[in-house]
Amino acid sequence: MSTNRDTVQSYDTRAAEYAAEAAAMPEWVAAEIDAFVTELGGSGRVLEIGSGGGRDALALETRGISVRRTDVSKGFVELLRESGFKADLLDPLTDDLADPLHPDRPYDGVWACACLIHVERRDFRTVLRRLAEATRPGGRLHASVRDGDGDSAFTLGSAAAPRHYVETYWRESALRSALADASWNVGEIRRCMGRPDDWWLSVRASRA
Ligand SMILES: C[S@@+](CC[C@H](N)C(=O)[O-])C[C@H]1O[C@@H](n2cnc3c(N)ncnc32)[C@H](O)[C@@H]1O
Repeated sequence: MSTNRDTVQSYDTRAAEYAAEAAAMPEWVAAEIDAFVTELGGSGRVLEIGSGGGRDALALETRGISVRRTDVSKGFVELLRESGFKADLLDPLTDDLADPLHPDRPYDGVWACACLIHVERRDFRTVLRRLAEATRPGGRLHASVRDGDGDSAFTLGSAAAPRHYVETYWRESALRSALADASWNVGEIRRCMGRPDDWWLSVRASRA
C-alpha cells in the first residue's frame, strides 16, 4: 500500500498557486454541496479529505456544517494554518481517521472532492472502507473521481522544476462496485463536466 510521494510533493511545491486557481467554485461542486448539506439536514461534523486551498470547507461551514480540514500535502496544511484554520496532515490510506475533537464519535459525513483521483486502484477500496468505518450509519459521502479508463502519470511545470502526478480513472460500474464493497450505499453518481472535456463522476452515497 502506498501514496504517490511525487504527486504529494508536486502539490506541496505550489499549494498557494493551486489554491488561487481553484478558488472559484465550479457549478457542479456547488450543486454537490447543496445536496450534501440538505442530506445532512444542515448540521453535523464532516471529515474533509484533500481540503486543498479550503474552498469547499468554507462553503460547507457557511451552510452550518462543522468541517475537519485535512490534506496529505503539508503544503496545503501549512497554507490553511497560515490563513487561520485548523488543519491536519492526514493520509486516508494509513492514518488514524478518528476526530481529535470527539475521538469516540463517528463523523456525520465525508467530503472528498477531486482528491481520490490520486489513490491507486489497488488501494481505493481500502480508503473507501476506512472512510466508511469512520462514519456513522446513515452518514453521507461526497467523492468525485475522473471518468475514464486506466491511469496516467504526467509531468507539468518547466524542465527546471518539473511536477509529477499520478491519477487513476474510474468508470461508473466499477466505482459503484468499489463503493458497495466498502459499505457505502450509492444514491446517485452524476457525470459532471469540469473544464471542457474534463469529466467527473460525482458520488452521493450513505454509510450502510
Ligand atoms: C485536485 S486537488 C483537489 C483539492 C480540493 N479538494 C479541490 O477540490 O480544490 C487534489 C487533492 O488531493 C490531495 N491528494 C494527493 N494525493 C492524495 C492521496 N493519495 N489521498 C488523498 N488525497 C490526496 C492533494 O494534496 C490535493 O489536496
